[in-house]
Amino acid sequence: MLSVSKLAGSVLPSATLAAGAKARQMKAAGIKVFDFSLGEPDFPTPEHICKAAEAAMKAGHTHYTPVNGIPELKAAICKWYKSYHNFECTPDQVLVSNGAKHSIHNALSATCNPGDEVVIPTPYWVSYSDLVQMTGAKPVLVTTTAAAGFKVTPAQLKAAITPKTKLVMLNSPSNPTGKVYTRAELEAIVEMLLGTDVSILSDEIYEQLTYGDAKPTCIATLNPKLRERTITISGASKSYAMTGWRMGWTIAPKPIIDAMGNVQSQQTSCPSSVSQYALLAALEGPQQCVADMRKEFEFRRNLAAAALKKIPGIDFPMPEGAFYIFFDVSAYFGKTPGGNPITDDVSFCKYALETAHVNLVPGSAFGAPGNARMSYATSRAEIEGGIGQLANWLKTV
Ligand SMILES: Cc1ncc(COP(=O)(O)O)c(C=O)c1O
Repeated sequence: MLSVSKLAGSVLPSATLAAGAKARQMKAAGIKVFDFSLGEPDFPTPEHICKAAEAAMKAGHTHYTPVNGIPELKAAICKWYKSYHNFECTPDQVLVSNGAKHSIHNALSATCNPGDEVVIPTPYWVSYSDLVQMTGAKPVLVTTTAAAGFKVTPAQLKAAITPKTKLVMLNSPSNPTGKVYTRAELEAIVEMLLGTDVSILSDEIYEQLTYGDAKPTCIATLNPKLRERTITISGASKSYAMTGWRMGWTIAPKPIIDAMGNVQSQQTSCPSSVSQYALLAALEGPQQCVADMRKEFEFRRNLAAAALKKIPGIDFPMPEGAFYIFFDVSAYFGKTPGGNPITDDVSFCKYALETAHVNLVPGSAFGAPGNARMSYATSRAEIEGGIGQLANWLKTV
């Protein structure tokens, strides 16, 4: 009998994608579901980006490309970093992959050995822990609290570092908390890490989506010494509403990029040719579309936060970026809204979907039980309707 490998058997399906699938089944059965589970913009990909892809197809750019990406795209990425973050990098320090998730997998495959440790602050993006385990390395989770704004401190990180620690993974703006580290907070973390041999993998995919006074920081720019030990990852999915195009990239020291390129050459040969031309248009074209989407996300954040705050017992630190609110649902443990016995975040989300028809993702999926994540990358009407329905259900305790 053909059996599944230990590696594949140990990998869990992505919890956010699984939550989306259940809601889709209910929708197919004719039930109106308020789906707050998926981490993707509801906006269409901007027209000029789609047009560039069409033009690329017509021009015959439908073949394999260089493994690390077409030269003009790598140059455009460098130009974008210079203008957005004042970060100087060269095309040989850039690798384009099929989405930032692929970039992270490649980066971990190119740097981690079995037995190495990778420090991950919780709550973390669902895939980090599984992607680390797929390399044979061990995720070391460091718990942060809502009271601390879900931010890890240098002292907490220092306590988690051992001689086996290879990397610390950071993600600001964060999925799932929406929190954004200030420059000063990151400088303090960097100062501590520079006193160790540990490198940084910084996932900055939500860098163009910050609200109010919050500003993104490209960690690699904080100290010249970081250049040799920082892997910066980002992508087009969130800022340009391009999730299906699968475009992500990595900036890292050349030897790491070369190793990642070797891995990628064996895995997927290259990133999608047509998508690379679409990303080129996204980075080089008008940026008003990003500003417009950002403004609408900020409006929705305010709308969702104000409505959630009115529900008794629901609490969260105000998100400053990305498009999620991560809220504490533990006040409902031991209660039975609508006759549904709630014991933990998983049962809270199960009954929220089954009874209130509101789809959330349990905090346990992000290493932070007791919470739920709501994505507000959906229309204002859905946000108002769904939170209204959640509130009505929770009133029936
Ligand atoms: C923090 C974070 N990193 C990376 C990704 C992966 O994005 P993609 O593979 O679509 O580029 C996501 C998507 O949800 C994310 O939230």
